Amino acid sequence: MKVQHDIVIVGAGLAGMRAVIAAAEKSKKLSIALISKTYPIRCHSVCAEGGTAAVMREGDSFDLHAWDTVKGSDFLADQDAVEFFVREMPKEILRLDNWGCPWSRTEDGLIAQRAFGGHSFNRTIFAADRTGFHEVHTLYERMLMYPNVIRYDEYFLTSLVIEDGKIKGLTAIELKTGDLILFEAKAVILATGGAGRLYGFTTYSHTVTGDGMAVAYRAGVPLKDMEFFQFHPTGLVPSGILMTEACRGEGGYLRNKDGERFMERYAPEKMELAPRDVVARAMWKEILEGRGIESEHGYYIALDLTHLGEEKINERLPLIRDAAIKFVGIDPVEEPIPVRPVAHYTMGGVHTNANCESPVKGLYAAGEAGCVSIHGANRLGSNSTAECLVFGRAAGEKAAEYVLNADYSHVSNEVYKAEESRIFDEILGKSGDENPYQLKKELNETMDKNLWIFRIEDELKEAVKKIKELKERFNNVEIVDKTKGFNTDLVYTFEVGYMLDLAEVVAIGALNRTESRGAHYRLDYPKRDDENWLKHTLAYYTPDGPRFEYIPVTITKWEPVERKY
Ligand code: FUM
Repeated sequence: MKVQHDIVIVGAGLAGMRAVIAAAEKSKKLSIALISKTYPIRCHSVCAEGGTAAVMREGDSFDLHAWDTVKGSDFLADQDAVEFFVREMPKEILRLDNWGCPWSRTEDGLIAQRAFGGHSFNRTIFAADRTGFHEVHTLYERMLMYPNVIRYDEYFLTSLVIEDGKIKGLTAIELKTGDLILFEAKAVILATGGAGRLYGFTTYSHTVTGDGMAVAYRAGVPLKDMEFFQFHPTGLVPSGILMTEACRGEGGYLRNKDGERFMERYAPEKMELAPRDVVARAMWKEILEGRGIESEHGYYIALDLTHLGEEKINERLPLIRDAAIKFVGIDPVEEPIPVRPVAHYTMGGVHTNANCESPVKGLYAAGEAGCVSIHGANRLGSNSTAECLVFGRAAGEKAAEYVLNADYSHVSNEVYKAEESRIFDEILGKSGDENPYQLKKELNETMDKNLWIFRIEDELKEAVKKIKELKERFNNVEIVDKTKGFNTDLVYTFEVGYMLDLAEVVAIGALNRTESRGAHYRLDYPKRDDENWLKHTLAYYTPDGPRFEYIPVTITKWEPVERKY
């Protein structure tokens, strides 16, 4: 079956829905499709908790937000994109306010802001600790206003159709029927989120498997800076559920087994509110050096909110209290929460410029799926939901402008038939003795062990070898369920294949980068090396594994300096 739309947006999280609204506002004439593997309000963006950064008050400035972001990125961010981002962000906060987002307020009715790591001004706007949830619902309700938006809920992306350097459409499985649908489109926006399920201990929903990144990569689009993966300091032990940075923004402490606020030794000025790479490394070091707290689920660090008082916790951190009670039986009003660093954010993604344009004409990427890049080697907390809003809108607007002057390109029936045969004959129909669930488990174990906070050559080499072995074994996977409708085994197998490709890019990229920068810390190369490595990594697909190129970082105002907190 074939359908045709001017713009097809894949992914119904914050970036995808913001792109839909921006494109729909550009012109009522456009036919806009939104494809999502989950129902939109079940997207992973609802898990964003602590807030969204923007300059809203006297005393703060665009330059200060930009500087914090660039310094936080360990100078790998593209500064033209950062400058655009910080200027656009306050408008997005006010837009969402007008559309009904229930931002938390100060006593005198202003939009409230809280402290977040690495920001030198309290600029994180929030809706208690359910910010992503409220932002998603606000955009979802707004999106329903536009009759020219057609939704394809529960469709799974399998390939992009690119010919002569130009996007022509994509293919997706309608999960309910199992049918393959060809979407012909003048423009496609990938807003499929990150790749956090590469890791086992992670804050990500099970759906976040890097689909858009992997499909673009396989179609020849380069991925940028994939070796940079963020570890959030405070994942609940043992599940990994996010204990928001707002816990520390509201005044929470991190303590080791001796009750010491150890951040004093690592970041004496910023303490618990240093950027995430700094805090996560400090916590891991405490654990490695025997100052973690022992438990049946391994060592942890105590996130202490007890001094904040019940009233403040109920008002500012209600979800955290609820989750800690439900998942580990601990009431943070009474006792510290057991936490340790957890995989949280993919700094890399589909290579784009500051307009979200990929090297392929008509193909855009926004949000975590894309790499503009404003986060460089380490993202500041609360800059991610912000990025989704600013660059979701930019991608929607740019795509709309492009398609108003572009024609459809016909996709031949052979392309559709070949994809149908690949999926249903070669993948679903295949016999073999490997199980995708086992391969994913082994992948997660490798990532958690060898590509964690501290990296070193031997372990990286071991990871590359293991991932190559898993890729080999993947060729021998048999999907036991051969039915068509809602075949979750088929989807899972696709996701594992996507993640294996991405893991290979992460691992080889990390092995190649012989320096420490932001979240990528090499024990064997502990210093940042601007002379050789102040550059972005681009990874291109080849059947034998990724081929790497490097491109310069855009510097407008801020030359790299030593990073101290
Ligand atoms: O801790 C948090 O609430 C996460 C925020 C973010 O990743 O930006």
